[in-house]
Amino acid sequence: MNEIIRKPNKFRVKPNMENYEETYKKFEWNNFYDEIEWFEGEKLNAAYNAIDRQTKTWRKDKVALYCEGSNGTSGEYSFLDLQNLSNKFANVLKEYGTQRGDRVFIFLPRILELYVSFLGIIKTGAIASNLFSAFGTNALEDRLRDSGARILVTNSELKKRVDEIKDKLPELKHVMIVDDEGTDEEIDYMGEMKKASRDFEIEQMHPGDPLFMLYTSGTTGKPKGIVHTHYAILQEHLTMKWVLDIQEDDIYWCTADPGWVTGIAYGILGPWSNGTSSVVYEGKFSPEKWYSLIEKRRVTVWYTAPTAIRMLMHAGEEVAKNYDLESLRYLCSVGEPLNPEAIHWALKVFGLPFHDNWWQTETGGILIANYPTMSIKPGSMGKPFPGIRASIIDDDGNERPVGKEGNLAIKPPWPSMMKAVWRDAEKYRSYFKKGWYITGDMARMDDEGYFWFIGRADDIIKTAGERIGPFEVESVLVEHPAIVEAGVIGKPDLVRGEIIKAFVSLKKGYQPSTELEDDIKQFIKKRLAGHAYPREIEFRESLPKTQSGKIMRRLLKAQDLGLPIGDTSTLEER
Ligand code: PRX
Repeated sequence: MNEIIRKPNKFRVKPNMENYEETYKKFEWNNFYDEIEWFEGEKLNAAYNAIDRQTKTWRKDKVALYCEGSNGTSGEYSFLDLQNLSNKFANVLKEYGTQRGDRVFIFLPRILELYVSFLGIIKTGAIASNLFSAFGTNALEDRLRDSGARILVTNSELKKRVDEIKDKLPELKHVMIVDDEGTDEEIDYMGEMKKASRDFEIEQMHPGDPLFMLYTSGTTGKPKGIVHTHYAILQEHLTMKWVLDIQEDDIYWCTADPGWVTGIAYGILGPWSNGTSSVVYEGKFSPEKWYSLIEKRRVTVWYTAPTAIRMLMHAGEEVAKNYDLESLRYLCSVGEPLNPEAIHWALKVFGLPFHDNWWQTETGGILIANYPTMSIKPGSMGKPFPGIRASIIDDDGNERPVGKEGNLAIKPPWPSMMKAVWRDAEKYRSYFKKGWYITGDMARMDDEGYFWFIGRADDIIKTAGERIGPFEVESVLVEHPAIVEAGVIGKPDLVRGEIIKAFVSLKKGYQPSTELEDDIKQFIKKRLAGHAYPREIEFRESLPKTQSGKIMRRLLKAQDLGLPIGDTSTLEER
C-alpha cells in the first residue's frame, strides 16, 4: 500500500516534535530531565508530577478529568480537585497503616474513585495496581495472593467476587468500599474521605523505587507481576508529548482501561504530567456512544486500539456521519497489528490516519511509533522513539540484516523499562539475552528503518487487544467437572485479531453438546474473566501431547488452520 506523505503546513497545530530524524540523532535522556519535576536530592514522585505540579500554575483550575458515567451522568474535576482528593485518600491509607512498598490494589470500573485511589496510593510510596473489572475469582485470587496485596479498593458489586476468595488471602488486611458503608470489617471510603485532611506530605522516592505493578500473561505459568518505577514518568511524559503530540488545548481520550498498561501510562500518568484534559468513559463500547462522546467533549486527540477501529468500520461510515467529529485532530492506535484498511478507512471517515505505535506491559511506555511529521507506511509500527535502539536479532542474539525476519529486541535500559518481575528474578532474567531485551515479538526492519510486526514468537494470545496466556485459560478449563485436559490457542479473527479457541477432552460419562459448551464458557467467564472465555470450543477424544505430557498447542493450531504441522518427532502418539 502507498505511503501516506505528511504535509506539515496542513496541520491544525504545529507538532511538538517537528523533525523525527534530527531529534533521534541528537537525543539523550539526560537532556530532558527537566521535563519532569524533581525534589531535592534527585528524588521524585510520579503522582506529584502528574497532579500537584500543575496546581502551582494556571492549570490549577483546568479540567484534568471529564468522567462520563455508563448511566449518563458526568462530572468534571480540575487538577486542584484531584490534588485534594488524592491527598485525602493518601491520608486514609496512612490511617490504615500503609507503608512504602505495600501493595494496594484497585478493583473498580473506570470511575473517579479509581483515579483518586491510584494517585493517592502513589503519594504514600506504596505500589499501586489495577485489576480489570471483568476479572473472575481465580484471576483475582492469583493476583492478590502473588502480590501479597494489603489493601483492596473496590465497590459493592465487584466486592462479591472478592468475598468468595478472601479467606484464602491472609495478607489482604483491608477491603475498602467506595459506594456504600460496607460491613463492619470493611473500610467506608466516603466516610473516611470526609474526615481526611487535604494536606499530605508526598513521599519523595528514588527514581528506581516501585510505582505500580501489573499482572500480564506469559505463555507458560500464571501471570507475572511486572513492576515499574517512578522514573517511568519521564518516558511516559515525553512519549505523550511527541508520539501522542499532546498540546495545551487538547481534549484527550484514551479508551484503554487502567487494568492494562495503556490505561495507566497514557490514561493517567502521561497525560496529566503534560497537564492534559482527559475524558474517561465508564461504559462499554458502542459506536454510537463513542462518537457521541467525541462530539460532546470535542475530543481532539484519540488513542484507541485496532479491534475498536475495526468494530467502528463494521458499524459503517453512515453511523459516523450522524455525529460532528470535526474536533478530532490526531489519532493513535496500539495493542495489536493495525491493518492498513483501518488507516485508510479513518482517512476517509475522519480525514485523519491512525498512527500505530508499539510497546508492551514490560516496556512501560511507547518504544516504536509513527510521528506526526513522518510518512506513514500503513502496516508498519513506525520507528524507534528517540533514545531507543531497536533491532532484529536471531535466536543467538546476533543482529539480522535489513529486511530479514527475527526477534524484535531493544537495547536496555530506558526510563520506563520494568524493574522486576514480582518475586521471580529468574523470569526477569529470562527476558534478556546478550545485552538485548527480547520482546517475544517477531518483526523485520525495512531499509528506511521502519519496523513491521510479524507475530508472536510464543503462544500468547491477543484478543481484542487484550493479552491472554493460554495456560491461564487451560488451568481454569481443567477445573470444570466435565474436562480432563485442555489446549488453548489464538485463532485469527477479522475483527478481534484473534479469538480464544479451546480444545478439550471430556471425562467418562460426559458427552459433547451445545449446553455443555455454554456451561464451559460461563464457567470461564465467572472464574477467569468476562473477556477471556473461549468463543470456540472443540471436543476431542484426546489431545496431542509430547512424550513428556505437554499439550502441543502449536500442533492444534496448525491442524485448526490447515497449516503444515511441522516437526512432530516429540509427539506422544503419531
Ligand atoms: O505482540 C505485541 C502486541 O501486544 C504485545 C504487548 O501486549 P501488552 O503487554 O498487553 O501491551 C499492550 C499495550 C502496550 C506486544 O508484544 N502489540 C502491541 N502493540 C502492537 C502490537 N502488535 C502489533 N502492532 C502493534 N502496534
